[in-house]
Amino acid sequence: MKLCMIGTGYVGLVSGVCFADLGNDVICVDKDYNKIENLKKGVVPIYEPGLEELVLKNHKNKRLNFSTDLSESVKKSDIIFICVGTPTKKNSNSADLTQVYSAGKEISKSINKFKIIINKSTVPVATGDKLEKIINKSVNKKYFSVVSNPEFLREGEAIRDFIYPDRVVVGSNNKKATKILRNLYSPLVSKGAKFVSTNRRAAELIKYASNAFLATKITFINEIANLCEKIDVNIEDISIGIGLDKRIGSRFLRAGPAYGGSCFPKDTKAIVSTADKFKTNLSVIKSVIKSNKIRSDLLLKRVNLIMKNKINNKTISFLGVTFKANTDDMRDSSSLKLIPYLSKKGAKIKYYDPTGFKKEFENLKNTEFSNSINEAIKGSDLVIIHTEWNDFKSINFKKYSKNKKLIIYDMRNIFSPSKIKKLGLKYYGIGC
Ligand code: UDX
Repeated sequence: MKLCMIGTGYVGLVSGVCFADLGNDVICVDKDYNKIENLKKGVVPIYEPGLEELVLKNHKNKRLNFSTDLSESVKKSDIIFICVGTPTKKNSNSADLTQVYSAGKEISKSINKFKIIINKSTVPVATGDKLEKIINKSVNKKYFSVVSNPEFLREGEAIRDFIYPDRVVVGSNNKKATKILRNLYSPLVSKGAKFVSTNRRAAELIKYASNAFLATKITFINEIANLCEKIDVNIEDISIGIGLDKRIGSRFLRAGPAYGGSCFPKDTKAIVSTADKFKTNLSVIKSVIKSNKIRSDLLLKRVNLIMKNKINNKTISFLGVTFKANTDDMRDSSSLKLIPYLSKKGAKIKYYDPTGFKKEFENLKNTEFSNSINEAIKGSDLVIIHTEWNDFKSINFKKYSKNKKLIIYDMRNIFSPSKIKKLGLKYYGIGC
C-alpha cells in the first residue's frame, strides 16, 4: 500500500520505516528541510537501536522516501498517518493539538481520491471527531475517513514493539477503512498480534488508559519500595511474589527513581485534564502524578541520610542520566532534578552516560561529564546508578574497594546488595 507519514519523530519515522520494511511504499514528510535532507543521506536524528540500518535498507530499495512536500505526498498515498507532536500545553495539563489540526487542514487541500486519515499521535478523546469536522469543511465525507490507530512503542524498543505488538488497535466508524487497515496490519497479526477493532473514541482512550495504567503500576511498586526500606524487606522479592500472579503480571514492576520520558508524564496529565472537562475525577491517576512528582524529593532525602547530611565538597557520580536505558532522551528524567539539587548543595558532580554529554547540565557549577565509567567512579564518595544501561551491569567494584568510603546508591537495583557489601563497600538500593 501507499502510505504517507506526516512527522518524522519517534512515532512517524519508526512506523514509516517498519511499514516500508513490511513491503509498503512509504513517504515520510516533515517541514524541517534539514531533517529531511539528512534522512535522505541516511542520517537518523533519533537514537533508536536498529533504526539507522532499516532506514538505509528501505531507502536504498526505494520503498522509503522523504519529502517536505506534504501536498504531493498526500496525493500519491492511500493512507495518511498523522504522527506529529501533542506536547502538554505550557499553562495547563491538556495536550496541545495545534500540529494535529494544521496537518488536517493541509491534508484536506490535497484529497484527490478516497483517503484514510489516521491519527497515530496520542490525542485526547474526540480529537478524531474534531479533525473530521475540519476536513469536512472543504471535502465531502465520501472522500475520506478519519481513524484512530494509537501506537504503543517504547523508546529503545520501538522497532520490536512495532513488529511484535501485543495488539493493533484501530478505532474507526467506517467498515471500508477498518478492512483496509486489517489488511495493512495482516503481517503483524499473522505473527500473533491481536487486531482490536473498535470505534474512534474508544481507540483514543485506550492509548491514554494504557499509559496511565502503566504509570500507576510503576508508581505502585515505587511506593511499596518506600515501605520496604522501612521494614527491611527487599522490593525485588515483592515484585517477583506479586508479579507471578497472572492478573498482575511481572512487567513494569521494577522500582526505580520515578517514571520519566515523553509519554507517561504528558499522558497522565492529559487524561486527567480530559476527565476534568467531562466532570469526572480520576483520583487514582491524580495521586500517581503527585506521587511521581515528589519521588525525587524522597530520593534526595535518602541521599542526605546516606551522606550524613554532608553533601558540600563531596564527589557524587551519576552512572546514566537519561530517563531510561537504550535512549538518549532526557525528557522528564529524574536526573534533571537530582543533579541540580546536589550541585546547589555544593557537591562536585561527575556523570557518565553511554549517549554522551548532556547540554541540560552544561551551565551547572561543579558538574562535569566523565568520558568513561572508570573516570566517573574514581575518587567518588557516592556513586548513583541512575539508569539501567547494560554497560553498568559488569562493573567490577572490587577494583574500587580500596576506597572504603565509597558508597553505592543503586536506583535501579541492578547489583546484588550482598556481593557489593562483601567487598566492604556500603550499598543502598531502591526498596532494599
Ligand atoms: C511508554 C509506554 O511504555 C509505551 O507503550 C508508549 O507508547 C510510550 O510511553 P516509554 O516512555 O518509551 O514508553 O518508556 P517505558 O519503557 O514505558 O518507561 C517509561 C518510564 O517508566 C521510564 O522512566 C522507566 O525507567 C520507568 N519504568 C518502566 C520503571 O520505573 N519501572 C518499570 O518497571 C518500567
